[in-house]
Amino acid sequence: MESIQLKNIIQGIPKAELHLHIEGSFEPELMFKIAQRNNITLDYDSVASLKKAYKFNNLQEFLDIYYIGAQVLIHEQDFFDLTWAYLIKVHEQNVVHVEVFFDPQTHTDRGIAFETVITGIYKALEKAKSELNISYRLIMSYLRHLSEEEAFKTLESSLPFKDWIHGVGLDSSEVGNPPSKFVNVFKASAAQGYKLVAHAGEEGPADYIWEAIDILNVERIDHGNRCLSDSKLVNRLVEEQMPLTLCPLSNLELKVLENLEDHPVAKMLDKGILATIHSDDPAYFGGYMNENYYETAIALNLNVSQLEQLAANAFEASWLPKEMKEKHIKSVHDYFQSLE
Ligand code: HPA
Ligand code: ZN
Repeated sequence: MESIQLKNIIQGIPKAELHLHIEGSFEPELMFKIAQRNNITLDYDSVASLKKAYKFNNLQEFLDIYYIGAQVLIHEQDFFDLTWAYLIKVHEQNVVHVEVFFDPQTHTDRGIAFETVITGIYKALEKAKSELNISYRLIMSYLRHLSEEEAFKTLESSLPFKDWIHGVGLDSSEVGNPPSKFVNVFKASAAQGYKLVAHAGEEGPADYIWEAIDILNVERIDHGNRCLSDSKLVNRLVEEQMPLTLCPLSNLELKVLENLEDHPVAKMLDKGILATIHSDDPAYFGGYMNENYYETAIALNLNVSQLEQLAANAFEASWLPKEMKEKHIKSVHDYFQSLE
C-alpha cells in the first residue's frame, strides 16, 4: 500500500484513545507559553533545546523530564489549556472518544489544589463534549513510586469530585513498585465506585500483570507488553477478553523495544487478545493516535483487517455503555466497508 493511501485510511478511522496521560500531551510550545505567563524560567532556552532533551534510555529518564515539564502548570486555566490543546489535536485525527489519565500527586505535592487541577481538565473535557462531539472518561492515576498512604490521601481529596472521575489507574516507575503495593487503596477506590486499571508489564515482569488482575481486580491493563512470555497468562487474557492498551511509539522511545518491528501487537491479535493502540505521552514520544497506527502498520506490515480489528477493539475496551460501543464499532466496520 502507498504510504499516502495508508495515512488517509488511518485518518478516516473513527478512533478511541484509552491510554493518554494529559501531562504527557504537553507540547513544548505550550509549555514555554504557560511558563512565561507564570513567570517560571525553564532550564532550556528554546523549544528546540527542550526537544533535544527528549531522548530516553528507559521509563525513569522520561519520567524525570515529564515531572519537570508539569511544574509550570499552576492555575486552572493552565490545566484547561493543556487539555483543550490535546482535544483539538485528536479531534483533527478523528478521535471520537477519549479516556484520559491525570496524575493529581504531581501537582498536589507542589502545593496546587486538587480542585484547581481537576476543574481545568474537566471544563476542557466538557467543552469538547459539547463543541467537538468527543465523549470522555477521566481516570485519576496514583503514582506508584509513592506510598500507598499517599495514594489514600489522593483518594480522599478526590471524593468531592467523584462525579467527574470514572476510574483510578496506577502509573510512574514500575519496577520495584508492584501492583500488590496498592491493594488496599484499590479496594477502597472500588468501594467508592471507581473503575480500576493499572499499568503493568511495560518494564515490569508478567507477574505484575497477574497481580494487577488477581490482586487489584483491574478491568484493563495499560501496556501489558510482557504477557507473551507467559502462556498461562495469555490464555487468561484471551478467556477474559482483558484489554491491553498498547502504546507502540512510547515503547520504542522508552526502549521497551529496540525496533518497532519487534512490537508484540500483531502476535497478540493473532492469539485473540483484545489489544488496542494508543499514544501514552504524545508530546514526548513523537506521535498522537494516527502516528501510532501508521508507524506500527508500516513496521509490522499490518493489513486493513488488522487495523479494523484494532479500532473496533478500542471501543470494545472502552467504558462507554453497550449501545454506544455498538454504535461506534458499527461505524468502524461501515468505514472499512466503504473503502472496498
Ligand atoms: N508509564 C508509566 N507511567 C507513566 C507513563 C508510562 O508510560 N507515562 C506517564 N506516566
Ligand atoms: Zn501510560
